[in-house]
Amino acid sequence: MIDLRSDTVTKPSPEMLKAMMSAEVGDMVFGEDPSVNELEALAASMFGTEAALYCPSGTMTNQIAIKVHTRPGDEVICSRMSHVYQFEGGGIAFNSSASVALIDSLSGTFTADDVNGYINNHEDPHKAYTRLVEVENTVNRGAGSCWDFEELKRIREVCDKNSLSLHLDGARLFNAMAVDGRNPKEYGALFDSISICLSKGLGAPVGSLLLGKKDFIKQGARIRKVFGGAMRQAGFIAAAGIYALKNNLSRLGEDHRNAAAIASALENSPDVETVHYGGTNIVIFKVAGGSSAMDFLKKMKENGILASRVSATSIRMVTHLDVSEADTVKVCEYLGG
Ligand SMILES: Cc1ncc(COP(=O)(O)O)c(C=O)c1O
Repeated sequence: MIDLRSDTVTKPSPEMLKAMMSAEVGDMVFGEDPSVNELEALAASMFGTEAALYCPSGTMTNQIAIKVHTRPGDEVICSRMSHVYQFEGGGIAFNSSASVALIDSLSGTFTADDVNGYINNHEDPHKAYTRLVEVENTVNRGAGSCWDFEELKRIREVCDKNSLSLHLDGARLFNAMAVDGRNPKEYGALFDSISICLSKGLGAPVGSLLLGKKDFIKQGARIRKVFGGAMRQAGFIAAAGIYALKNNLSRLGEDHRNAAAIASALENSPDVETVHYGGTNIVIFKVAGGSSAMDFLKKMKENGILASRVSATSIRMVTHLDVSEADTVKVCEYLGG
């Protein structure tokens, strides 16, 4: 099977497994796991942030960030299609008792002007207190679209003027940086907090990191405990993260080339109506005419290709390090491109 359902389906390579099996471990809750400490220090130094916090998932790092940045009744400005709003189980309300102001756009990106338009008057007691702006780079449901870094800088200025915090869901930030050519320190300097995932394009089996200032991360560690994410000998999985950061960044362009080839095969397919490709490793397309996504997926599965359903008529394909160029050629041949 060629599995294009998600970049989370990857399995550790033999080299990554070896690194995991030979990891030095200790009790992370006591601050004594050398591998976790090394991973956190490595990530913080890459991004130039004061500190980092290792967590089991990207959902947890995002939700910890929102919880630390807000108070009950505050409002978070984010895209309607953002992961934090759509796919974290209503966590903004559940964990932080915060409300949302949702910005609409096809790509899931927005502008500093958009943000300005959604900031409530802090003097008006009728209005929720706008406290946080959240952006996602790349945008999962925006077909892996990337942000314009200059626009992010303008959003930072708006946040500074209005005393708002700025959080980045960078589950696939390394995919974005492979396209925009920025380095992690530039992102680290722009945001109050960043979540990065090791378990997506980087190929680790589990793990995410929250980055920020020392005091923020200290508060985050308390919330991680409350959320049940304070693990013990987590060094075995942290070692996979260290391996991923050291070895799996430079190959992300391969995933992007494979996704671009699939996007262009889809463009040429008579069975496909529209293709949405944001330039990284995710393609979302709408099936043609009256056909359903389920039928399209069933036929692909019979031909050894797995993808995932986005809606009744649209499908998502994601490339990753367990999808080779040869696999991509097979997918393109199947699609007729
Ligand atoms: C953009 C984005 N943010 C956050 C997450 C959450 O990550 P996790 O599955 O590790 O909770 C995902 C997962 O797919 C994602 O795509």
